Amino acid sequence: MKDLLATSIRYQQGTLEVLDQHQLPHREIWLPCASTDAMIGMIQRLQIRGAPLIGIGASLLLAHLAEQEASADQLRTDAERLRAARPTAVNLMNCIDRMLAALDAGGPAALPGCAEQLFEEDVELCERMATLGAELVGDGSRLLTHCNTGSLATAGVGTAIGVIDIAHRQGKRLHVYVDETRPLLQGGRLTAWEMARLGVPHTLICDNMAAMLMAQGKVDAILVGSDRIAANGDFANKVGTYSLAVNAHYHKVSFYVVAPYTTVDRHCPDGSAIPIEQRSASEVQGVSGSFGEVSWAPAEAPVYNPAFDVTPAELVTGWILDTGVYNREQIAGGVLKTLG
Ligand code: MRU
Repeated sequence: MKDLLATSIRYQQGTLEVLDQHQLPHREIWLPCASTDAMIGMIQRLQIRGAPLIGIGASLLLAHLAEQEASADQLRTDAERLRAARPTAVNLMNCIDRMLAALDAGGPAALPGCAEQLFEEDVELCERMATLGAELVGDGSRLLTHCNTGSLATAGVGTAIGVIDIAHRQGKRLHVYVDETRPLLQGGRLTAWEMARLGVPHTLICDNMAAMLMAQGKVDAILVGSDRIAANGDFANKVGTYSLAVNAHYHKVSFYVVAPYTTVDRHCPDGSAIPIEQRSASEVQGVSGSFGEVSWAPAEAPVYNPAFDVTPAELVTGWILDTGVYNREQIAGGVLKTLG
């Protein structure tokens, strides 16, 4: 496979490495990843994360194993284990399906080419949706975003952060409010790091401050990514997105979801059919990362920890995809059923 370089994954001279997102922003550590067990562990610990990137990571690993002369049967077993690593992001399943189709058609030798294609396609999809989305962002806009949707979460410039990146590079003056994103702090740890690297003026807030900023008239638009968009436009994204959408509706703030067609699941009729990953109690009882580990709740405190929530289509102003920007009428008309 040829060398492939992104902000948080790289394949170079036969070695696959992942930038350990659990250690950001304080430590930039690249970890080698040479086995299915290692990739599954990294995906589940969110050392590699973001819907598009986990699909790319799993594909690069399978391609790497094919180059190490793994058998077709072994690759099929590994592909199914990788598919089950996280249940909500449909990009992972889409990538595995494409890799398995390549395996069926051309055997293990076909996997490196397919993984390269998936990587390069993701870079292009990001560029396209970010460019389309940037047209909606006016000079002087005050934006708000949730979780991390940038170059750490994709092979390219990202989804919602991709829009911000391109609008900023076009010379538009922007200010971005960054939700810290409890429980795993993707906003505070990763988006704040990406905003600083891009030179975008930003302010970090706790998630529960967003409504007040909207009430104060300080937010013009909210941009978020997605892990799965159902055929009727309902979508799953990092838990906390739904509260933002409800608040945006009440305060009449535009609310956009930004995603590639690979995030659309046209076989999923609506948000109630999206599988939601439930995670460990310890993530809510405390927090861990490059700063260490702390737990503040009683160890026996019962916890509810869904990693994602579902935002109904009726709360969305626009769906910014690589194929175009769609409004509620177009989505209700079934345009998503032709994608994905
Ligand atoms: O649990 P994570 O950090 O993988 O969740 C990521 C998100 O929710 C993103 O918004 C989503 O994957 C889209 S990113 C391009």
